Amino acid sequence: MKWTAGKLKELKGGRKIAMLTAYDALTASIVDAAGIPAILVGDSLGMTVLGYETTLPVAMEEMLHHTAAVARGVREALVVADMPFMSYQPSVALALENAGSFVKEAHADAVKIEGGAFRAETIEALVRNGIPVLGHIGLTPQSIKAMGGYKVQGRSSEEARRLMDDAMAVEQAGAFALVLECMPPALGEAISKSLSIPTIGIGAGAGCDGQVLVFTDLLGMSGRPVPRFVRKYAELHPLMASAVAAYREDVESGSFPSDEHAY
Ligand code: KIV
Repeated sequence: MKWTAGKLKELKGGRKIAMLTAYDALTASIVDAAGIPAILVGDSLGMTVLGYETTLPVAMEEMLHHTAAVARGVREALVVADMPFMSYQPSVALALENAGSFVKEAHADAVKIEGGAFRAETIEALVRNGIPVLGHIGLTPQSIKAMGGYKVQGRSSEEARRLMDDAMAVEQAGAFALVLECMPPALGEAISKSLSIPTIGIGAGAGCDGQVLVFTDLLGMSGRPVPRFVRKYAELHPLMASAVAAYREDVESGSFPSDEHAY
């Protein structure tokens, strides 16, 4: 069964939603075959696979290229394209044009945009024009310069109230689900209980309706420390590095290729 934004929304109050990022057809096919219902082509790809320091330099062309690859690797999962920095902030018209490109050219099923109440007009316009939207509040990495770093959000009661208002506004605007990033678990749970759309947490506690993690963090692929909210299910970096080193040694010593690899 191909997942749609509507079907994912119906999971509210039922089975929890496991979401993962993927950036290419190969990893998307693995994630899809594992039964993950929704794949996010996150702009985190800027840091995880493109070598940027932050998500800010990621361009529309890069996101379109990777989203199209993910869509080619998927049979059932919902493919959500993350709209990169400055592809939707300047105007609703630009947001519509770029979100349209994700659907028309890259075959995304939905888009994700960061921001709360102040982004409601954009979310509404996208939804009205047939493009399902996943919201994203809390720690929003595209505002990292204004936030002053990757910090937990909503610790004070004033901030928590603002995030609750933002969540309500995003739901009201028509988003089918909402990512809650880096906030105290009690706030994640309170927001989740107040909304009729599913919340997808990342560092927002177990009270959310689902969770999202970055594929390369989950599998320990980077060889670098991961955030506290990540549970690693494998440690692939040293495994891959030692396999590559073994290949180099075999070529240098002449033990590869052997007769069995010859025609
Ligand atoms: O870019 C990304 O991967 C994200 C998720 C981690 C929520 O925005």
